[in-house]
Amino acid sequence: MRKFIEHNPIGKEELDAGKKVIKSGNLSGFYAQNLSKFYGGKKVLKFEKDIKKFFKVKYAITVNSWTSGLIASIGSIDIKPGDEIILPPFTMSACAASILHWSAIPVFADVDPKTFCLSPKSVLKKITKKTKAIMLVDITGHPSDIDSFNKIAKKYKLKIIIDAAQSIGAKYIKKKKYTGTVGDVGGYSFNIHKHINTGEGGVIVTNNKNIANKAYLIRNHGENMVNKIKTSNFSNLIGYNFRLGEIEAAIGIEQLKKLPKILKKIQKNGELLNKELKKLEGLEVPEVDNKVITHAYYTYGLKLNTKKIKFSRKKIVKMLRNLGVPCGEGYLNIHLLTLFKKKIAYGKKNYPWNLNKNRSYKYNIGDMPIAEDLHFRSYIGIGLTHYDFSTNDIYYIINAFRKVWTKLGLKIINDN
Ligand SMILES: Cc1ncc(COP(=O)(O)O)c(C=O)c1O
Repeated sequence: MRKFIEHNPIGKEELDAGKKVIKSGNLSGFYAQNLSKFYGGKKVLKFEKDIKKFFKVKYAITVNSWTSGLIASIGSIDIKPGDEIILPPFTMSACAASILHWSAIPVFADVDPKTFCLSPKSVLKKITKKTKAIMLVDITGHPSDIDSFNKIAKKYKLKIIIDAAQSIGAKYIKKKKYTGTVGDVGGYSFNIHKHINTGEGGVIVTNNKNIANKAYLIRNHGENMVNKIKTSNFSNLIGYNFRLGEIEAAIGIEQLKKLPKILKKIQKNGELLNKELKKLEGLEVPEVDNKVITHAYYTYGLKLNTKKIKFSRKKIVKMLRNLGVPCGEGYLNIHLLTLFKKKIAYGKKNYPWNLNKNRSYKYNIGDMPIAEDLHFRSYIGIGLTHYDFSTNDIYYIINAFRKVWTKLGLKIINDN
């Protein structure tokens, strides 16, 4: 069976940069108090400068994971206990956990069946007087429908937080802007299976000074709040150690230089899969409106049309896996975590749900039909950034799909 190289390989450049930091002995440049080192060491500052330039944003605040980044982002929008933030369920748990962290309440809205990102129509049904923000998640690397959400945010005076962990480098073509930079605050993950990685790490990006100042404080214990940094509001501001180390920052500087090349290769792999797999009966490939957005293809997300095909997803995925295709069934439905289904994992007293007693915030199967269909029935994902796939590897995967389709007697259309 074919063996694929895992994730984006670290090169000599990253190795040399990391070694230099180790030799210097300055593995972190941070101090928490009101000192010049509050904003971090040389490599952190340089990495942030490069990120600002690349993504054309005023502020870039590196963090030790994007989970930390999400917590700091939400803490930076003047969130209050009992505020609601609308988010999709077809994402990972950090999105909801970061909201609960501030005693705010995650409110789930369903996703779009084509992009798998949050659906504007579904969000409109969930807005209440308590809604403070919408969290967009560019799942699989497909940018969210920012124009619709900006209109909604303007009308209802809501903040937009963008989890662009999976869509780094993808763009809104007409706006000439990168995902993550088009809301009030956003950011990217640099964990091991992202397009570029520092092992663990992430960055918050924003053009808003008040949000940036709060994020700087949350990242670094918040002790500086009594002195220099100006923000609109210090209440509900808790500081942590979310600081990125100098070795990771040095590696990040080198990785960022490689992002355009890495992204191009992944996008080419995604487009090749699109061209070939759309020939297979009952398989729906990602639809990308090339005039509006570019897709980062973090995961190659396919949909099996279970109405057209009489074989189960389980059977098809098993056959593909037996041929060595690293694909997975479904993704996540975080509204069905025990925490939200039963509201007991977070304490029987229902804190923070108790803050708004007139609403239930309880979820069950049937509440998010599209996200549930994806997770339980139709979605098949292949992690395109989880491996360093060559073009030949992609052809190997395509051939494996064709073998399965042939074996099952399913049609291969427009084949030439
Ligand atoms: C959509 C999304 N949000 C948040 C995270 C959390 O990022 P990190 O692993 O850097 O904490 C991830 C990581 O996989 C992610 O894919």
